[in-house]
Amino acid sequence: MIRVMMICLGNICRSPMAEFVLKDMVAQRGLSDCFEIASAATSTEEIGNPVHPGTRRKLAEVGISTAGKYAVQVKRSDYDRYDYFLLADSSNLRNIRRIIPADPENKIHRLLDFSDRPRDIADPWYTGNFDVTYDDVVEGCEAFLRHVLNERK
Ligand code: 4NP
Repeated sequence: MIRVMMICLGNICRSPMAEFVLKDMVAQRGLSDCFEIASAATSTEEIGNPVHPGTRRKLAEVGISTAGKYAVQVKRSDYDRYDYFLLADSSNLRNIRRIIPADPENKIHRLLDFSDRPRDIADPWYTGNFDVTYDDVVEGCEAFLRHVLNERK
């Protein structure tokens, strides 16, 4: 079992998009039973709120539902449960350190650090553009899946 937690600031735009895109990718490969995939916020801003309409609309276009997802905050105890914490951007690398101060098992990475072009995921909170965010998320999830599936060969 590979346990993955996607992380962003609010857990309403970027990290739930990454959670449900990665769930869809593993389902398409028949690998759902090999993965546990979740998402969480570093902030308390949006706790309990549903996924942002922009993310819901974009994922609906590609046939993915986010039903049942409400924002939660990452907890210290999550460090022991999950194998990978995949962050939307480098500001969240700093934020998560307030909750999980040390990373002795090297579990914390930016999602797009697995891609050939390491960078932050475009933040739709500021751009209003969920299409670019989606393209970044797909690129990151594909690169991450290649990485973990190769490691397990
Ligand atoms: P997210 O988007 O981190 O991708 O879920 C944001 C959500 C809330 C805020 C910023 C970004 N906020 O400032 O409350």
